Amino acid sequence: MKLLTILIFMWSSFNLEMVNFNNFYVLIFFGGFMAKFLVTGAAGFIGSHLTFRLLERGDEVIGVDNHNSYYDTNLKEARLARYQNHPNYIHIRMDLANRKATEDLFDKYVPTHVVNLAAQAGVRYSIEDPLAYIDSNIVAFAHVLEGCRRYKVNHLVYASSSSVYGSNQEMPFKENHNVDHPLNVYAASKKSNELMAHSYSHLYGLPTTGLRFFTVYGPWGRPDMALHKFTKAIIANEKIPVFNYGNHIRDFTYIDDVIEGLIHVLDGSLVINGSRKNKHLYSQDGTLPWRLYNLGSNNPIKLLDCISCLEKALGRSAKIEFLPQQPGDMHDTYASVDNLVNDFGYKPKTSLDKGVANFVAWYIDYYKVNCC
Ligand SMILES: NC(=O)c1ccc[n+]([C@@H]2O[C@H](COP(=O)([O-])OP(=O)(O)OC[C@H]3O[C@@H](n4cnc5c(N)ncnc54)[C@H](O)[C@@H]3O)[C@@H](O)[C@H]2O)c1
Repeated sequence: MKLLTILIFMWSSFNLEMVNFNNFYVLIFFGGFMAKFLVTGAAGFIGSHLTFRLLERGDEVIGVDNHNSYYDTNLKEARLARYQNHPNYIHIRMDLANRKATEDLFDKYVPTHVVNLAAQAGVRYSIEDPLAYIDSNIVAFAHVLEGCRRYKVNHLVYASSSSVYGSNQEMPFKENHNVDHPLNVYAASKKSNELMAHSYSHLYGLPTTGLRFFTVYGPWGRPDMALHKFTKAIIANEKIPVFNYGNHIRDFTYIDDVIEGLIHVLDGSLVINGSRKNKHLYSQDGTLPWRLYNLGSNNPIKLLDCISCLEKALGRSAKIEFLPQQPGDMHDTYASVDNLVNDFGYKPKTSLDKGVANFVAWYIDYYKVNCC
């Protein structure tokens, strides 16, 4: 009985795996303690889905968010309410741009893995208030990097964006394309994150992986994004402004696919001393623990086709107001996911029809809309 208790304790506390050798099951210790995840931006769209998923499978999560009012803070509270009281979850309301507070955070919780999703998001707002992006995306990211360095975090995964491709014309976008021409400060801040992470991987051996997300959508999505705004306007029978006369093409990526990709990247690095999965932490040439992946659907869709999908899901027609391209907007986005597929065997798979239908079902339920 005592032995069984010790085994159960070891199983839950260490990286143990049962491996079958010629019909003999052998318990293997891969080294390192159980992962403790720090997820920043945990009350945000992507951060809340990731936190929910990690808790669901039994991981311990410390979530951080400053609950800023860039968009409706009630939505942030509602996302958080889904797991705030989970026994494996601790929520900290703080601003990562505060250096001392971020140092204290790492001192107190000593995470083994960090997923940095906190940021000032949104391309258009970056034209209005560029300094918000410097604070939350550059200064705060530097504080997170420092915490990771001081505590020798096993792996830092952070959000980059398709925006870094700027005015690239070559499609699909590949990670090795030149991205030295950001069209807005948001894109510049994300490119800066990739560069800063590179220097920390190079100097301190900190394993970092940047994920360039492509137009993520789905339940609990951001109200400042087109799909959300269009849904609201169609239900209210109002005109929807469609920029660039509807000629934009976007690689819309469903939230569950993004979370699945994130989990593949995180799990690919969970066993640090066991070496089996360590190759995922090193750059393609094997020299640096620095990696970068596109995480997009690899299925670009015309904005007008996306609106048709929405009309179908809502059972209503949109009133479209065609407008010229907005400054700072990219023309098209299209992700190559070859590297993600090669290294993790994962490719996003949700069709736009299904994803939009799921989003609309959530929207109607969450906002208690009487329509359709
Ligand atoms: N959603 C997309 O389509 C998309 C596309 C490309 C990249 N990204 C990136 O993915 C990440 C997550 O995006 P999202 O859509 O979930 O955005 P989001 O705005 O819903 O989530 C970000 C969260 O970070 C918090 N935050 C901002 N600044 C902070 C700070 N200084 N300290 C603590 N918390 C702070 C916000 O309150 C918010 O809840 C961001 O880095 C974003 O730039 C998102």
